[in-house]
Amino acid sequence: MISLKKNSAGKSLLKGIPLILGLTGATLSHAQQHNTSSTYIPPSDTLVQAKLSQWQDIKFGLLMHWGTYSEWGIVESWSICPEDEGWTQRRGPYADSYYDYVHAYENLQTTFNPVKFDPDKWAAAAKEAGMKYVVFTTKHHDGFCMFDTKQTDYKITSPRTPFSSNPRSNIAKEVFDAFRKENFMIGAYFSKPDWHSPDYWWPYFPPKDRNVDYDPKKYPAKWQAFKNYTYNQIEELMTGYGKVDILWLDGGWVRPYKSIDAKVDWQKNIPYDQDIDMPRIAKMARTHQPGLIVVDRTVEGEYENYTTPEQTILSEPVMHPWESCLTMGNSWSYVPHDHYKSAAELVDLLVKIVSRGGNLLLNIGPSPEGDWDDTAYSRLKEIGAWMKANGEGIYNSKPAAPYSNGNVFYTQSKDGKKAYAFYLPGKGVNTYPARVTIDASVAGGKKPKISLLGFKEKLGYKKDGDKWVIEIPAGLQTRLTGQPAIAFLISR
Ligand code: GLC
Repeated sequence: MISLKKNSAGKSLLKGIPLILGLTGATLSHAQQHNTSSTYIPPSDTLVQAKLSQWQDIKFGLLMHWGTYSEWGIVESWSICPEDEGWTQRRGPYADSYYDYVHAYENLQTTFNPVKFDPDKWAAAAKEAGMKYVVFTTKHHDGFCMFDTKQTDYKITSPRTPFSSNPRSNIAKEVFDAFRKENFMIGAYFSKPDWHSPDYWWPYFPPKDRNVDYDPKKYPAKWQAFKNYTYNQIEELMTGYGKVDILWLDGGWVRPYKSIDAKVDWQKNIPYDQDIDMPRIAKMARTHQPGLIVVDRTVEGEYENYTTPEQTILSEPVMHPWESCLTMGNSWSYVPHDHYKSAAELVDLLVKIVSRGGNLLLNIGPSPEGDWDDTAYSRLKEIGAWMKANGEGIYNSKPAAPYSNGNVFYTQSKDGKKAYAFYLPGKGVNTYPARVTIDASVAGGKKPKISLLGFKEKLGYKKDGDKWVIEIPAGLQTRLTGQPAIAFLISR
């Protein structure tokens, strides 16, 4: 399924057509449809290559969607986008007039006051769960800046925002500092489209959809102003916020017209060329942040240093770096009483993703007061307990053919001396069988040593054709009940 191609510059391209497995329960609205690029161009900058491989080793990160929309407990940004009226929730008496609604939505700025904001607490909980990088929404599509930009007053540090008087008001900076102290890699989520900027949604025209509401070719000065605005904001983030490792750019419809893939539904409707000049942005960003990983999502090419399937996982390994972003609840943004996936479901996803060479970026939406739901903390605790015993088969691992067989999923250490066989009990099951069968090809030539991570008991195992059959003693089997997953260490 994967083929290597050369582009005109002679760089190798990877053509992979991985199957995408949607997560059950997630219905994708039009706005949420998202494709995974099939063409990958490896970065030529050796510092970027080095950072990418460092990032591939850490496997597990935290994503947070946070903005004034959290106050209403609604979906992030999308309710002000006319084409998305069908699946978003408008709130309030102003909900029957578009402009009144946008006015009320933007007025949330004047009540946003997350006094419980304590990023150290988040960093500690994420660290305990075994997460090693963070990606934070510095600005989502609605344009509200969670950092102290000089380019607009629609921001957390504006005197219009109550939280501006708090010593921790520059939220993005505080988040980055707190997680960096715990040795996390730092990622800035930044939306290229900006529905507050008069240079993107020019009030001269009514907005119709998520795109720029005028033709940039016809009004080049306007578009240039928007390009400068974007460049300047990204430069602020790359200079005033300490070391940043990942620039995670969302809003793939802001892209050069020639990059539109007509086979992708949401792309074929993009009406205009929205070339934001990524070469200029990336050059500037990497001057300030050498080795920066740039993730221009869905825009295939040299600024998409890894691909980002969303609310889905790949069904098989691909030869390029990738990351699934998934929500712990159902929503990216904070929604009161959201339904959270169980720790077992989350571990299941993590193991599958890692066995296919990917990373998991798990999203939690902070509340308007500035904290997470208690359930989020308890899930992270459970995952952390599991990671403490089993993390050695996750971190710094690489895929091991045949990758999986039934309930068993494989990884191996980089030097190939150890393999790991994870047994995933499956949805709703929390017991383990008396016998687990693994592929002999994963175990290497001679008789391997097999043990169970986190447990001292000796295991019996014998060869049966091209398999090893591992016996789990009855007492141990009972003790395993309730584990999200178990992992056999196979010393080759
Ligand atoms: C979806 C959502 C968007 C969110 C993104 C995160 O595309 O519509 O709001 O930021 O997922 O990957």
